Order: sequence, then C-alpha cells, then structure tokens
Amino acid sequence: YRNLRVAVLGGGSVGSQVASLLLEHREELAARAGAGLELVGVAVRNPDAARDTDIPRELITTDADALILGADIVVELIGGIEPARTLILGALGSGADVITANKAVLASHGPELFEAAEQVGAQLYYEAAVGGAIPIIRPLRDSLAGDRVKRILGIVNGTTNYILDRMDTQGDSLEEALAEATRLGYAEADPTADIEGYDAAAKAAILASLAFHTTVPLDAVHREGITALTRDEVLSAREAGYVVKLLAVCERIDADGVEGVSARVHPALVPLSHPLAAVHGANNAVFVEAEAAGSLMFYGAGAGGVPTASAVLGDVVSAARRHVAGGPGVAESTHANLPILPISSATTRY
Ligand code: HSE
Repeated sequence: YRNLRVAVLGGGSVGSQVASLLLEHREELAARAGAGLELVGVAVRNPDAARDTDIPRELITTDADALILGADIVVELIGGIEPARTLILGALGSGADVITANKAVLASHGPELFEAAEQVGAQLYYEAAVGGAIPIIRPLRDSLAGDRVKRILGIVNGTTNYILDRMDTQGDSLEEALAEATRLGYAEADPTADIEGYDAAAKAAILASLAFHTTVPLDAVHREGITALTRDEVLSAREAGYVVKLLAVCERIDADGVEGVSARVHPALVPLSHPLAAVHGANNAVFVEAEAAGSLMFYGAGAGGVPTASAVLGDVVSAARRHVAGGPGVAESTHANLPILPISSATTRY
C-alpha cells in the first residue's frame, strides 16, 4: 500500500472519535481506501482536555501549522471561522485534500475555500457539515445531479429537534428541554447557535447552494429560532394535528416571472401525517422534492461525536481513493471475503 498521512485538527467530541476510529479500524479502512491511512497527529488547543480522550498522547500537538505540512489529508474539526478558515486555506495551499464538518466556515466562506481547492487541484469534502451521519451532500451533488430539485425541507439541528420533541411529548418547558439537550451533549458549546437558528441557517445556505447549483450567502438566509415558542403553542399545534419543527426550507420560487431561490429557517407546523413529523429526539432528516425523482427522505443521527465521525471517515476514504487513483477513485472493494451465513429463523421481525 501507499501510505497517506492524515492530520486531524480539533480534539473535541468529533475529532477524538475520528482519531480513535482511524486507529481502531486501520486495516479495514486501508483495504477499502486502497492506501494506508496513517494518523500523524491531532492538533488541539488544550492538551490537558485532550488527555482525557482516547487519543494517544504522542499524537497530541498544539502546533496545527506544523502538523499540516506534509499531510496528504487534513481533517478540520475545530469549528467556527478562525483559525479554521486560515488552516483550511493553508492545507489546500500545500496541496492536501481537506475534510471539514464546519458548516459555519462553509456557509460564510465557501466560495473562497472551493476556489482555493480548485486552484491546486485539491478537493474539499464536507459530508459531515450537514445532518451529521446522514449522507446528504453526495446525494445532492452526485445522485441528483441529473434532476432538478424543487424544494428541500430539512430538520438539520438535532438540539432544537430534541427540545421541540420534549416539549411536544413530555410537556417540558423550553428551558427544561434545553438543559437536558446540553447534558446529553447535543447542543453547541454556546446553545445560542442552536436555539436561535444560526446553526440551521448555515446548513440551509450549504444545502440551497448545492441543490440549486448557485451561491446562497449566509446573510441571505432568513432566520428565526425557537426561543419565542411556548409549551402551550406546541401543545395546541398537536391538538390541531400538527407538530412544530424548526425547518430549513430551500426552494425555487418564481416572483413575478423572475426565477430565483429562497432559503429560510423558522419554526413551522408540520402535519402529523408528513414523514418529517416522525423525526424524534436529536435526529435530523432532509426531505427533498425533485422534479423527476419525486420525494426522497434522508434520515439519521444529526449530531454527536460518533455518528458525525462516520461521515468524516467516509470522506477520508473518498479522499484516499482519489489520491490512489489520481481521479475520482475506485468505487468499491470486495476485499473482506466474509462468509454468507444461514439465518436461524425465517420469522425474524424488524
Ligand atoms: N449542535 C448541532 C445540532 C450539532 O444540534 O444539530 C450538529 O451540527
């Protein structure tokens, strides 16, 4: 195997899980990627905090710039705008492929980052930036590239979905539900980004840009959070046959004969019969309405270190395949040779 050097920036819940899974599944990932994936280090701001994670001590560094030099694949999991933006540009500038879960930097500086990648023939992967574990970036970019997306309705923030779900099903107040979401680790360090809709707005900008093949700047996304909602409003919505969800709505619209797009985030009434009404807890779902495909729904865990690490590692494998093939990479591999086992019962229930 050729060996590829992987640098991870950020030792938080996603970064430490990416590091552990890269080490734990080293052999399997290498076989799938067609290249060895050597974790060369994890750059963190606070080494003391990182020592409480599974990251081997000798891999922990505070020098992100030095770590990037010589890396083939750089995984940015710091979040926020700076220093993430400068580090991504530095990594792309040195020719590395970059993987990021950072919706904020993509929504506010996407064009700059994609252009920097294009200039050096590198790739910027971001499957984990929207919907955590849910594959939604590749479906919109690749699988639906031959179709025309009309509208996207997304539950793209796990914290607010968890809060609204508790208000709806347990009768919690917003404060009680938020305290529980924070305790379970769903909320961002500053929950303002979740409850005021900033996190969902960044994701709406990313989804709308991808789905409509255009640039939708973050400041063009209308944003309204959930802080003004009361338990009574949520409960009376249910009595009327609706559930309140914080939706990211991206759609093609026609205003007086001018074709354009709209992206917005606000609490909305979803009929109980709609598939989005069944999205409970911190899960996310993206409901896509396309001209030829019709309606599609992508559902799964939208937050959390381990699920988000799944999407990040998928991008690492894609980047490695591209390195090895010098192109889009090999599509599949059947190295595992697993036996086909008989099942014990034909009446298994799922
Ligand atoms: N705080 C975010 C959420 C994490 O609740 O969905 C994933 O971006």
